[in-house]
Amino acid sequence: MSNVTTQSLLEMKQKGERIVALTCYDTLFARLLDASGIDILLVGDSVNQVLGGAPSTLSATLEQMIYHTRIVRRGVERAMVVCDMPFLTYQVTPDDAVLNCGRVMKETACHAIKLEGGQLMAPTVRRLVDVGIPVMGHIGLTPQSVHALGGYRVQGREDAAAERLKADAKALEDAGAFAIVLELIPAPLASQISKSLTIPTIGIGAGPACDGQVLVLHDMLGLNDQFSAKFVKKYAAMAEDVREAARLFAAEVREGRYPGPEHSFGK
Ligand code: KIV
Repeated sequence: MSNVTTQSLLEMKQKGERIVALTCYDTLFARLLDASGIDILLVGDSVNQVLGGAPSTLSATLEQMIYHTRIVRRGVERAMVVCDMPFLTYQVTPDDAVLNCGRVMKETACHAIKLEGGQLMAPTVRRLVDVGIPVMGHIGLTPQSVHALGGYRVQGREDAAAERLKADAKALEDAGAFAIVLELIPAPLASQISKSLTIPTIGIGAGPACDGQVLVLHDMLGLNDQFSAKFVKKYAAMAEDVREAARLFAAEVREGRYPGPEHSFGK
């Protein structure tokens, strides 16, 4: 399998091949996911919630994102690695965005960045693309605006909001984004948007008609059993596996059954 690029993602859409993306925050999982043929590893600012227990993505910092993106990149040969730009690193001015996204590209060797927002962010996207930084957009439920949106709720249910999202998607495509994440929007709306664009859409809670799908890795592995949502399918039950392994280890240590002779050194 050849390396995933912005061009190959476009070709996948043209051929009707679905794009597969997962979040990833470290080298170990990056190696496993890359070897499994996942197309895009998104180093999401959700890292702060999933690994750090934070209540939202708002507290993620540029330093954190650089660290996690760098260690993900280390484990990847084929997949595209996308770094999620944290809150306030790209919204203030387009110049800030170029400096911060450029720093991420230089210091992590990732292949692209992701930022949240539609029409308002289009001039910034254009600026980034013009200096050679591939940009993935993100509209619908944009977690960095969770408080302004009144919580983690499905977006675009009313006609006016749906029209705004369609215009957002078009503005991002026109500005040069190579793909757009559609988060938590009704499936028929995601279908309309996906059909109206030449660039691929990557859905999360946006139904089956998107050109690709992304999930948070720890949710789909069933590792994060503090979180459940209608759109998350658990493909494993790893939280229980971890608890069971830890209980077994504790029991064997307490009963003097571990370490055995085969785990010990004679001389
Ligand atoms: O931060 C993240 O994990 C994301 C995905 C859920 C799309 O933005």
